[in-house]
Amino acid sequence: MSSKKNVDLLVGAQWGDEGKGKVVDMLGSDVDVFVRFQGGANAGHTVISDGQKVVFHLLPSGMLYPGKLCVLGNGLVIDPEQFLNETGELFAKGQDRARLAVSPHAHVVMPYHKMLDKLQEEARGKGRKIGTTGRGIGPCYVDKYSRSGLRVEDLLDADVLRERLTYILDEKNQIFTKLYNQKPLPFDEIYEPARKWGEALAPYVDDTRALLRKAVDDGQHILLEGAQAALLDIDHGTYPYVTSSSTSAAGAFTGTGLAPNDLTRVIAVVKAYTTRVGEGPFPTEDFGEDGEKLRANGGEFGATTGRPRRCGWLDVPALKYSMELNGATVIALTKLDVLTGMGGIKVCVAYERDGEKLTTWPNDTRSLSEIQPVYETLPGWDDDITNCKTFEELPANAQAYVKYIEKVLNVPVGLIGVGADRNQTINRGM
Ligand code: GDP
Ligand code: IMO
Ligand code: MG
Repeated sequence: MSSKKNVDLLVGAQWGDEGKGKVVDMLGSDVDVFVRFQGGANAGHTVISDGQKVVFHLLPSGMLYPGKLCVLGNGLVIDPEQFLNETGELFAKGQDRARLAVSPHAHVVMPYHKMLDKLQEEARGKGRKIGTTGRGIGPCYVDKYSRSGLRVEDLLDADVLRERLTYILDEKNQIFTKLYNQKPLPFDEIYEPARKWGEALAPYVDDTRALLRKAVDDGQHILLEGAQAALLDIDHGTYPYVTSSSTSAAGAFTGTGLAPNDLTRVIAVVKAYTTRVGEGPFPTEDFGEDGEKLRANGGEFGATTGRPRRCGWLDVPALKYSMELNGATVIALTKLDVLTGMGGIKVCVAYERDGEKLTTWPNDTRSLSEIQPVYETLPGWDDDITNCKTFEELPANAQAYVKYIEKVLNVPVGLIGVGADRNQTINRGM
């Protein structure tokens, strides 16, 4: 057993779409094993390398590196159709299929989960809907926790699948017909494709916990790649406007079977401003010209659903909360280039409620709807920074913005994104 562990956990620090995909890809040349541990195809992780753009929904963003192992851990909810589409596209481009491992304990997103996701959203209606990605994530995790789920291993044995699906589908059909006034789903229409998915998935299924344990003990470099982000965490996010998994650091352990003391570093990916897709509180959202400009300059449209992202300024109390929750040891600051030409850069440093000042993130939806952000304005810059290779090449005000973030969050900024391409990154010793 090697003496030194080398396990990085990378998590989103805001409401998702911080640029996690790009950072994973950028760090990837040095990584041996890439791991997804929670969520499913609700993620949209964009990687741009040599002008070529790939968006990963389910697979780890390290898939473009030849010869490296990519793992889908037990904490995922796997949509087999999406899995086959995504792998099919990559294999058509010549990627090696032998290096993908799927946990038998990951849950399967079934067609009825996606149907339920849409029906529940419609039933919630305006003012209550969450604005989900429609990928069946919530209903699949509900089934996991109510012990009515199908795991990948259940698809591998036709008899087990038939037995479990008979009971499960019967229950689902009660819900479809009695609650939502829909037609029942015929058994064979669900069973037959699921059996085929099992055959297609079988070559990838492996004991991922044991694989990862060995890789860690052998001193291999593991990168645990979070999807979504801390403020969408089922426990610690802006509930009920959250996703249905543990998106912050703790999810990496339940979602893989690794242990907390396996971790070496926690990389929090922070966008230089804030965005959010879907419904829910967002104190620093800018509804005016600045918000429009951030959306246009940052290309802020959902990588999974194409929805325009809501845009606004950096929220320091929210980020302090996120740093605490994740035990962040280093920040990857992304999209600094998008702030070029914005004029003064607003930063929320506290909130006001009924004349009272709050300096910490009030983590309940009601309080969040009652607060007003208190801003400081930092000086901006106009020079193009997209070709800067070192920190010193950045304009003084851009350097000052980075130093300000380090100071208020008390976490060093190790990487700075100045463009979408893998190479448009300033590495400050990561
Ligand atoms: P993820 O879900 O966290 O992986 O992020 P997304 O891929 O959904 O959204 C981030 C978007 O910003 C993608 O279109 C990336 O190509 C792009 N991006 C990432 N880093 C940078 C950066 O430093 N500058 C610019 N301009 N774009 C970036
Ligand atoms: P990445 O990994 C941004 C949001 C949805 C919705 C809520 C619940 O690309 O950062 P779900 O379909 O998960 O039940 O939707 O969570 N959401 C994301 N927002 N980036 C994501 O992933 C997201 N995944 C889910 O918009 O508000
Ligand atoms: Mg995304």
